[in-house]
Amino acid sequence: MNFGLNFVNAAADILHQIAEAGLKVKVETSADPIIDMDYKEELKVVYPMFTLHDQMMKDLEKLGIHEFTCTPYFTSNKPKFGEHCAWSESSAVIYINSILGARSNREGGLVDLACAITGKTPYHGLHLTENRKGQILFKILFEDWDTFDLTSIGLKIGEIAGNKIPVIEGLKKVSFDDLKNLGAASAASGAVALIHVIDVTPEAKKVEDAFQNDKPEEIIEIEKKDLKELREKYSTEWKQQPKNISIGCPQLSKEEVFNVLKKLKGKKIQKDINFWICTNNDVKNSIINSDFSDILKSSGAKITSLCPLLTPLPRPLMTNSAKTCFYSNASYRNLDDCIKVATEVKEND
Ligand code: F3S
Repeated sequence: MNFGLNFVNAAADILHQIAEAGLKVKVETSADPIIDMDYKEELKVVYPMFTLHDQMMKDLEKLGIHEFTCTPYFTSNKPKFGEHCAWSESSAVIYINSILGARSNREGGLVDLACAITGKTPYHGLHLTENRKGQILFKILFEDWDTFDLTSIGLKIGEIAGNKIPVIEGLKKVSFDDLKNLGAASAASGAVALIHVIDVTPEAKKVEDAFQNDKPEEIIEIEKKDLKELREKYSTEWKQQPKNISIGCPQLSKEEVFNVLKKLKGKKIQKDINFWICTNNDVKNSIINSDFSDILKSSGAKITSLCPLLTPLPRPLMTNSAKTCFYSNASYRNLDDCIKVATEVKEND
């Protein structure tokens, strides 16, 4: 389930009425991130929804929803191949369609709740095999891509594909975490809900599988030089040092959090900067209770279950997330540069 900030009052009101009527969800259901109360002091000055938090939490619990993350497939809500779902968080829809081979359209907020309560969803769109056929072939012409390149490639693909189904050739060894970030970017800059990656995703062992033995409508080549212009387009360049740096949109997997913490080892976040590591509650709690908590404490980084967009962080904001950049005026940098800015005092400061 997804609660857009702009209609949160209306959604909260409807949710309350549904919960008061005693309705319950029939199938495994999770909701997007909510406020991380561990940081209520830092967040309350910027968060207009704060007063609704308690009521919404009670209503969601009454309905039978206890999980709050945009990456529920890392916890208890991981659909199987071919399973029919009704999800609305765009980054999660594209993940389960593309990487897990489950089937979901991009549902609207509250339609998803109706599906959860009835246990049914309309059988159309991406639930049908014939509608999962690839339409545009994207050829990645360079091999030395990294995580940051992949998120930028995601933005580019979303811009071009709109609501069509892209097929990507040339990313053979891409990790699922990197695909999560690429997909979230495409789902933000376009209305993409499914991407086939040749020899990686389950419905695209070969090019012919992805196109269901048909031909692509269009073939687009992406070179490394295309990404520079794209980053300049989406990045907001602030003169001042960032107040907040957020890593994790979509929320990070456990392995991604480990990677950030390893890079932070021996470093200290500057006192005027909040460095947010966004992940789900399970990962957050397991890190806090692990040996990695020493790195968290000594670096001053904040591990949190918040969403940097639903919990608007004061600007200047910096991020390595293409999705955060697309929806907000944040500086767009790779992870190493975010850490460098957070931890290195400039000589003239
Ligand atoms: Fe998740 Fe918020 Fe980003 S819900 S995908 S962290 S916008």
